[in-house]
Amino acid sequence: MSGINHVAIIMDGNGRWAAERRRPRVWGHVRGSRIVSEIVSAAADYGLQALTLYAFSTENWSRPKEEINTLFRLLRKFLLRERKKILENNIRFKIIGDISNLSLETRNLILDIEAESSKNTGMMLSFAFSYGGRREIVDAVNVYLEKNPGKPLTEEAINSCLYRPEAGDVDLMIRTAGDQRISNFMLWESSYAELFFTATKWPDFTSQEFTQIIDAVSKRERRFGGLPNGDKLEHESAAKNTEAFSHGR
Ligand code: FPP
Repeated sequence: MSGINHVAIIMDGNGRWAAERRRPRVWGHVRGSRIVSEIVSAAADYGLQALTLYAFSTENWSRPKEEINTLFRLLRKFLLRERKKILENNIRFKIIGDISNLSLETRNLILDIEAESSKNTGMMLSFAFSYGGRREIVDAVNVYLEKNPGKPLTEEAINSCLYRPEAGDVDLMIRTAGDQRISNFMLWESSYAELFFTATKWPDFTSQEFTQIIDAVSKRERRFGGLPNGDKLEHESAAKNTEAFSHGR
């Protein structure tokens, strides 16, 4: 057991990768979309319970129209291409975020794949599309208040009203392409996530690097605000000694 059940990835660096090759940014996205399939398969093979990929943020709407259209097109192509594989690999697929701006065709495709895969029992694959972490928290609070007027909010209540509560907390957040920030991604779910930043730009990311990162992070000691294991043992034996002392033994 690696203790890493839910991995979230900020797939960054497509634009820089393309610029380094003197190609338009959208070419970077095209190449980046090919890697997505490889990483999804690697995550399922690794036995992860959940994989959440940041495909388009609420802030990405400020990008040029051409780039936005390319990302929408790539999402659709990905879904058409991967639909069979998602089902064969027992993956439960869901988009988290606001899909209202996508074409009716794409929205129907998403809803179909979500419904078809909902009875699967394997990895929960989520694409965060037109997603914002703050928006998700605000939406969760509003959903709760609407259902429970006047009742005080609790952490459990917010948890249960997130876009995909069953995916649980993020254990590991990976960001490619060197920047070290979270960029409004899975803010609530990542409270105790391990963070890993790699300089590799997304189109160069591989399943080997992905599994190496999970293996490396699995070895980190996660304390969730508690004491390190060694200190805990020391603390427990010191407590026992104190107890023995106070009982005069
Ligand atoms: C960041 O690169 C990446 C995105 C904004 C979108 C991620 C999209 C993909 C990996 C391809 C789409 C695939 C599917 C299946 C929807 P950036 O443009 O911010 O890169 P930069 O920081 O180098 O400019």
